Amino acid sequence: MHETVTLRRWGEGDLAILERSNTPEMTRFLGGPESEEALANRQARFLRLWREGEARMFAVESAGEAEAVGSIGYWKKSWQGADVYETGWSIATPYQGRGLATLALRACVADAAQQGDRRWLLAFPRTDNAASNALCRAAGFTLRGEEDFEYPKGTAIRSNVWAYDLAALTPVAR
Ligand SMILES: CC(C)(COP(=O)(O)OP(=O)(O)OC[C@H]1O[C@@H](n2cnc3c(N)ncnc32)[C@H](O)[C@@H]1OP(=O)(O)O)[C@@H](O)C(=O)NCCC(=O)NCCS
Repeated sequence: MHETVTLRRWGEGDLAILERSNTPEMTRFLGGPESEEALANRQARFLRLWREGEARMFAVESAGEAEAVGSIGYWKKSWQGADVYETGWSIATPYQGRGLATLALRACVADAAQQGDRRWLLAFPRTDNAASNALCRAAGFTLRGEEDFEYPKGTAIRSNVWAYDLAALTPVAR
């Protein structure tokens, strides 16, 4: 089947997408399921950060699916003294294994290259998160190495550092 995805700006009605991703399986590499309160805070944060120009979070929609299949987006971050973007994603269990995350991440990269003013888009999946590491490679990111990371707050993890040079996509100087 030929798959297509669309990224849609995160909206008021999208808490359900966060709830569908809040299973033990989906959060295995992210510190486990969050409380309803934490999800509501995340929902409010997604809306606020977009309004403030600090992040662009999207619902991932797939042709033929009635509900959004997941979330993806990017936000401003300072990394080793540089102003970069960080990206993160989630595709709900029933929709995995169809290449939807790869299509969504490519669309997210294109959005960051078009809408953003920073050169680097980075991702920090845990070193043992096989699916997310394969996803970075499939979407054209380059592995820069490993580093200690904190996620969720207070929990030390080991992460890979994947980078995408957005300047390679647009002739605009950054
Ligand atoms: C990571 C995730 C988004 C992948 O979604 P998906 O739609 O199934 O991914 P795709 O079908 O586009 O596959 C992307 C790549 O990952 C590989 N992959 C997918 N699931 C995998 C798994 N369980 N183990 C190893 N590789 C896997 C695919 O083979 C593909 O690589 P390839 O192109 O080299 O074959 C999904 O597993 C997820 O939401 N996980 C939980 C949330 C999470 O960990 N978020 C990331 C935090 S950094």
